[in-house]
Amino acid sequence: MSGDRSRPDHYSRRAKQEGYQARSVYKLQEIQQRFRLIRAGNRVLDLGAAPGSWSRFLLRAVGTGGSVVAGDLGVIELPPDPRLELLQLDILGEDFPAEVERRGPFDAVVSDAAPATTGGRVLDTARSAALVEAIVAALPRCLRPGGNLAVKIFQGGEEQELLRSLRQTFDSARAFKPKACRSESFETYLVGVGFRGESEREQRDILPV
Ligand SMILES: C[S@@+](CC[C@H](N)C(=O)[O-])C[C@H]1O[C@@H](n2cnc3c(N)ncnc32)[C@H](O)[C@@H]1O
Repeated sequence: MSGDRSRPDHYSRRAKQEGYQARSVYKLQEIQQRFRLIRAGNRVLDLGAAPGSWSRFLLRAVGTGGSVVAGDLGVIELPPDPRLELLQLDILGEDFPAEVERRGPFDAVVSDAAPATTGGRVLDTARSAALVEAIVAALPRCLRPGGNLAVKIFQGGEEQELLRSLRQTFDSARAFKPKACRSESFETYLVGVGFRGESEREQRDILPV
């Protein structure tokens, strides 16, 4: 695969043909094929959802009886759908846990959120980890016991500590790098299956400082 982001690759061309705004949808598709995180009828929280290809995929996966809440700092470009709620939100904002709690509980939380990259690997991975920490800290308030998680993280920072913390709060947790990730990309996804629903206090105690 070419590392030249200006040239559409196989996944970009396929996304266009299949009506998705972003090639990143195929990462979620691979995660779903592998782990079956989302089921028909589920209520799903999609974070870092703009421009909207994951939410479009999720609406198909949850079917007519399910629903999706899509949140992002920016604009999510999706047509109105009674099963979809669009939220402008900052995962790092003070109100984030209360905002998602109010709309929960969810059967699954997925996040493709990524900080605007600076090219400085240390700073970029630290910002990515901060997003994951904020999401993980909010899980006891918004994810149902038994629920599932998939969250993007940049490699090279705290992903091993975060994975260890997820192994204590989910029946199983692992890192998974979909083939659709660009060859030069250092992103991966932490996947948790079967949330045990610990209290917020317990969750805070095991997160890295
Ligand atoms: C790779 S894009 C997501 C693509 C999306 N999954 C799709 O398929 O269309 C990453 C998104 O993370 C969002 N993001 C970054 N930091 C955020 C924050 N603090 N709160 C909410 N969204 C954030 C960005 O605005 C951006 O839209």
